Amino acid sequence: MHLARLKLTQFKNYEQQALDLSSRLNCFTGLNGAGKTNLLDAVHYLCLCKSHTGLTDRNLVRHESEFFRLEGRFVRDEAPEKVVIKFLPGQRKDLERNGTPFERLTDYIGQYPVVMVAPDDISLVQEGSEERRRFMDATLSQIFPEYLQHLVAYNALIKQRNALLKTFGEERRFDAILLESLDRQLPAPAALLHDKRAGFIAEVAPLFQEFYAAISGSRETVGMVYDTQMSASAFAEQLAAALEKDRVLQRSTFGPHRDDIQLLMDGQPVKKFASQGQLKSFLLALRLAQYEVLRREKGLAPLLLLDDIFDKLDALRVRQLIELLLSRDFGQIFITDTQRERMEAIMASFGADYRLFEVEQGRVS
Ligand SMILES: Nc1ncnc2c1ncn2[C@@H]1O[C@H](COP(=O)(O)OP(=O)(O)OP(=O)(O)O)[C@@H](O)[C@H]1O
Ligand SMILES: [Mg+2]
Repeated sequence: MHLARLKLTQFKNYEQQALDLSSRLNCFTGLNGAGKTNLLDAVHYLCLCKSHTGLTDRNLVRHESEFFRLEGRFVRDEAPEKVVIKFLPGQRKDLERNGTPFERLTDYIGQYPVVMVAPDDISLVQEGSEERRRFMDATLSQIFPEYLQHLVAYNALIKQRNALLKTFGEERRFDAILLESLDRQLPAPAALLHDKRAGFIAEVAPLFQEFYAAISGSRETVGMVYDTQMSASAFAEQLAAALEKDRVLQRSTFGPHRDDIQLLMDGQPVKKFASQGQLKSFLLALRLAQYEVLRREKGLAPLLLLDDIFDKLDALRVRQLIELLLSRDFGQIFITDTQRERMEAIMASFGADYRLFEVEQGRVS
């Protein structure tokens, strides 16, 4: 599966742009602010119906414009699939394939698996646990449609539960029956999230170590551990045991919405002592491992979006990274870089079918 053609209309700093893409390697070079990342984000949006940046749809509409539209022609088993997404603020966003609308987003997510590696991945290490849950959720939602459904259901229940706890606290009353009706619904989605996350970490952790060793030349060892208080079999009891605390704090203190991943380098939290280059290698390895899990589980190569990955890596790591990208079957790749010479050298060593695009102020040539 690959993206053969991409068309952007009023998307971020692009007015109107169509691109014919290589099925293997696509490189985008240009100055800061030219629109390289925006292009990768357009591909990301086509695959997952949301921006990688976490911006709301409204912010993706080109300034002074009314709407944006993205069109992608994917090719799977030789058959073309035309996907169109239109967004007009205040209206539902339209998503269709070969002219047929998708009613539910959960039916669409995972059709076009994608992994993006970006400078803001640093938040996976530096920010709170929410970012790391999102890492698990983003992968698992693309693999199992029911995962996303259960995640949405679980989050809605927790939101209701928190609102209820807050009301109880403020009004100094307590209604056990009301709370129980929510608590009865929680174990099923909670157990599914927990099981899938545990399975994911078990699968991704050894790949992560392997990729890190390949990029760093085995200089440091890395690890990751699923950090959860939850036991799938005893969830209902654990939830009940947390009730006193929940009432005092007026929110749900227990459950998979509190899960985390411990990220380690040489046995220590990576956040505390990794250098910038080590951190960059660490995050790259994490993303490539995520990619590999997706590839295995879906049985097809996801799109790989590599934004600014060579920045901050020393020459040795750049070379090792390129060798890694060459030696594995990574499917269709999109890379951005500000340095054209570096891109040209890399592509020459790639030898494969590639295209180089020059990006300048929202225009691609
Ligand atoms: N909704 C929008 N409407 C118009 N322009 C926008 C919008 N959103 C972002 N931009 C512009 O897009 C440009 C950023 O593009 P992008 O992040 O893709 O640059 P880049 O080529 O990746 O740069 P760098 O090398 O610094 O990473 C900025 O100039 C920004 O102002
Ligand atoms: Mg950029």
